[in-house]
Amino acid sequence: MRLDKLIEEQLQTSRKEMKRLFLRKKVSVDGKITLNDSQNVDSELHQIEVDGQRLLTNEVYYLLAKPKGVVTAKRDREHQTVFDLLKSEAKVDQLVPVGRLDRDTEGLLLMTSNGQLVYDLLHPTKKVVKVYQAVINEHVTQEDVEAFAEGIVFLDGPKCQPAQLTILAYDEKTNESFVELAISEGKFHQVKKMFLACGKKVIALKRVAMGPLRLENLEMGSYRKLTAEELQQLKAYFR
Ligand code: URA
Repeated sequence: MRLDKLIEEQLQTSRKEMKRLFLRKKVSVDGKITLNDSQNVDSELHQIEVDGQRLLTNEVYYLLAKPKGVVTAKRDREHQTVFDLLKSEAKVDQLVPVGRLDRDTEGLLLMTSNGQLVYDLLHPTKKVVKVYQAVINEHVTQEDVEAFAEGIVFLDGPKCQPAQLTILAYDEKTNESFVELAISEGKFHQVKKMFLACGKKVIALKRVAMGPLRLENLEMGSYRKLTAEELQQLKAYFR
């Protein structure tokens, strides 16, 4: 969470008092005095001290395997939501999904109470790599691989960043291809629109990785806390 918010909340200071603590050089992170009140901190990763007093955060980070049919929304009249899947957890109301997956997409979704990290992971300048596996309704060719590497232009205009498309298999009987795609941006319906621009349709889509996080064999509909190692790897994205 933001360092200024943590100080205000835990030391019950006014905004002015909090600012004064910084100006009087009373705030340190990992042993170094800091003037950066908007820094994103987590006491699992940082040693946060104000006037010699150690402050602790209580952020939570869940890696969820979103199943098909579940929506990435807080509430929905018709469908189960990703929040419903986590509802037995404390702080569920404070969780924010890092981006959204379409209802018919399955796979990795990070949900955290650390709103600042969500903002940073989604910021276009961070270029966090997302890896998807997809079934495509046609024969994906080397020409498609090259077009993705060049930067696909959507049918409605915008050009995408270069993306790495790998053909994993082609089934002659069904004429379907199985591919993996790594993209470093997050436009609305991006993967589906990239294939549509090549005249092809995504039949099934699964996100298998985001930045340093991997879905691996987490069962759809289940979730787990990030390991200490995964959180450490995410530290690079803390602003
Ligand atoms: N791209 C899509 O088209 N849909 C998703 O859910 C994610 C990426």
